[in-house]
Amino acid sequence: MKSPTTQHGREHTEQEACAWVVREIYSRSRIRLHDGKEPLIRARLGKRLRALGMTRLGEYTSHLERTGDPAEFTRLLDALTTNYTHFLREEDHFRFLVETALPGLLKDGRRGFGVWSAASATGEEPWSIALYLAEHFPLGQWDWKILATDISTRALDTARQAIYPTDKLAAIKPDWLRRHFQRGSGEWEDHYRLKPNLQSRLTFRNLNLLGDYQFPDKFEVIFCRNVMIYFDRPTQEELVNRLARHLVPGGYLLIGHSESLNGLKVPFQCLKPSVYRLI
Ligand SMILES: C[S@@+](CC[C@H](N)C(=O)[O-])C[C@H]1O[C@@H](n2cnc3c(N)ncnc32)[C@H](O)[C@@H]1O
Repeated sequence: MKSPTTQHGREHTEQEACAWVVREIYSRSRIRLHDGKEPLIRARLGKRLRALGMTRLGEYTSHLERTGDPAEFTRLLDALTTNYTHFLREEDHFRFLVETALPGLLKDGRRGFGVWSAASATGEEPWSIALYLAEHFPLGQWDWKILATDISTRALDTARQAIYPTDKLAAIKPDWLRRHFQRGSGEWEDHYRLKPNLQSRLTFRNLNLLGDYQFPDKFEVIFCRNVMIYFDRPTQEELVNRLARHLVPGGYLLIGHSESLNGLKVPFQCLKPSVYRLI
């Protein structure tokens, strides 16, 4: 392959390449990859480089800078977002949702509501919400919907597929597994898929939380967990103020257990660590 060059006619050095990736990722997602993350950048992009027949990171970034290929930028983001998640992660939030948040908000007799999983990764979070809702707000009697969004198209593809290997479902009670999942057969024997009636309640959308987006309705509850840790404080403040605009009055925002809104100028009251209510 002809050696790719930068706009200035030469290939990025390794150091320039890492700095370029850090800048691009920040401007496209506001995720802050620190300079010390060079080994992580190399490791995460290694497979993609090999697939393209490239050996140096500088070859890749110079090529991307020169071509501006949107599909390749999507792959870059997919490779560098951290999509770690699991079923029923930080489970007290799901209990709070069905035992406290929704019963309080629905006192007026409404039978419909919406929940947004704002950084849904590979789907374990929105599907966990769906399981809890199906158990406490049965589908035939309640009209609820879940929106699942993420910046990573690859993670969203997995979420939308709704198929998980058995070892990822260890946290789910056997009777929930029976009621809400179908077991695969043949080569899919070690996998389960969420049942179609649950699938019909979820909508998936590729969305940058710091980009432009609107929704037809406000949500009763937003889960925005374990994503703010990748943003700097001004970005966190901007994000939380945006989320506030998509909540009904008195709606709830749930963030990760290791996250906090302390010190941010945002219209939320802290009910307990990681649980906030719009004021
Ligand atoms: C660690 S996962 C958290 C998944 C889930 N919320 C949980 O707590 O288990 C973080 C997710 O945030 C997504 N993300 C990062 N920056 C984002 C942005 N600017 N807009 C939307 N999603 C973003 C990543 O793609 C990733 O899937």
